[in-house]
Amino acid sequence: MSKPITTIGIIGTGAMGRGIAQIAAEAGLRVKMHDTREAAVSEAQAFISKLWSRAVEKQRFSQARADEMISLLEEARTLETMAECDLVIEAIVERVDAKQALFKQLEQILAEHAILATNTSSLSVTEIASACARPERVIGLHFFNPVPLMKIVEVIPGVKTDPEVTEAAEALGQRFGHFTAKTTDTPGFLVNHAGRAFGTEALRILSEGVTDHVTIDRLLKDQGDFRMGPFTLLDLTGLDVSHSVMESIYHQYYQEPRFRPSPLTGQRLAAGLLGRKSGEGFYRYDNGQAVLPEEPTAPSAKPIPVWISAEDTNANRALVRMVEAAGWELEAGNVPSDKALCLLTPYGEDTTDCALRQQLDPSRCVAVDMLAGLNKRRCLMTSPATLAVVRDAAHALFSYDGEPVSVINDSTGFVLQRVVACIVNVGADIAQQRVAEPEIIDRAVELGLGYPRGPLAMGEHYGSQRILTILENLLAATGDPRYRPSPWLRRRARLGIPLNVTSA
Ligand code: NAI
Repeated sequence: MSKPITTIGIIGTGAMGRGIAQIAAEAGLRVKMHDTREAAVSEAQAFISKLWSRAVEKQRFSQARADEMISLLEEARTLETMAECDLVIEAIVERVDAKQALFKQLEQILAEHAILATNTSSLSVTEIASACARPERVIGLHFFNPVPLMKIVEVIPGVKTDPEVTEAAEALGQRFGHFTAKTTDTPGFLVNHAGRAFGTEALRILSEGVTDHVTIDRLLKDQGDFRMGPFTLLDLTGLDVSHSVMESIYHQYYQEPRFRPSPLTGQRLAAGLLGRKSGEGFYRYDNGQAVLPEEPTAPSAKPIPVWISAEDTNANRALVRMVEAAGWELEAGNVPSDKALCLLTPYGEDTTDCALRQQLDPSRCVAVDMLAGLNKRRCLMTSPATLAVVRDAAHALFSYDGEPVSVINDSTGFVLQRVVACIVNVGADIAQQRVAEPEIIDRAVELGLGYPRGPLAMGEHYGSQRILTILENLLAATGDPRYRPSPWLRRRARLGIPLNVTSA
């Protein structure tokens, strides 16, 4: 089967096919392009040529090189003219019957050694291959949109794929300059599987009335270093796409609670609130720009004595320093006075439970999310009993140096704690299921989802024991198996072994 790949075929030259054609020609391969729609290939060629002309203008490469690459792109008017391709990748409509029919037809045309690759993002590679006489030459090569910029490709062998085919596909991905993430043929593969927690947990937080979508986005961007918040991302992708991906992966995993979608998206989809593309989603768009409400300003409040729970020593120390820097009076001792603002630092627990467990008056308690420390946006959480005067005092205190502060309603684990713990847990379970190697999981998530760290590195960054505590407390408080810790996380956290170690 091993023969060097010099000519590749691309079937379906829409958003994905044209991107793959571009990087293949840039890597020096001959590219034969086919599409059932008459003008599709010439449109794709014109699109790619325009990009290359711009690159020449910007002196990224010479006109001679652009001309040479343009000559590598050929139209294949019929499938039969693809006979000389060493690998054909399909990027046609996302329907298993269409992809199976195409591969069956290609089997009649292509040489023995030729590889059949699918760019599917949600179908089973094994199922597509099952229609072929030789399923061993079928593989998934899952690129991301836009292909030239998203430097990652998932390489997905089906159950019967020949290891030599997998190796050849990995080598091709590397030749394109893409990171090749080898994963098993499981729903969502690696990247879309790992991306389940961010949006679904944010939607859950929103549906619990913890706070609004703007605040959730601000907290995850500023505290969690995410490039964009989950609602900005949902608006960018469009609910027509995201909603069905959420539902599809959830059902393919037989209603796994960790992936449970929210009823919110179906409703909003029905209302036509797709996101950026329809002019309104979670945000309203004016000339392509999201209309953002002003950040609420801190109320002016007179300083009151502050008592800080000593449950978490490090958090206590950091808060003492902050209160001293703000010049507010600190109350010493184990029991606060009845005039004090009581600051709690729970993990995976709400303000109500934390206050009652410590036998404090909930009306005087405010919780602080210490997961990301105090040097970024700060998040304060009230209980339903917290007095407005106490809440406002806390808001004023935490704003003393101009750092932004978000005040949210009671939540088992604030916003950042919940979203991060769910991301780490899903990532750990991907490792547990041997979908991919730990280093591959982390790198693929950084590249494919743009998270500041991969899920396992994220767990290490915040502390795997801490993440485990958040999940255990969430599970205990809600009884929802969505929050059950993955054995991968639980074992490694308890043994003090890094999350990205496979063997131990
Ligand atoms: P698209 O709609 O932009 O392009 C599909 C093209 O395939 C069209 O030009 C259409 O005329 C052509 N086509 C449809 N059936 C055909 C057939 N039987 N034979 C030849 N040509 C045919 O779609 P897009 O977004 O490029 O997606 C293509 C594939 O890539 C799908 O399987 C999709 O799930 C997958 N994918 C899409 C991503 C995205 O973000 N758009 C990301 C990763 C994978």
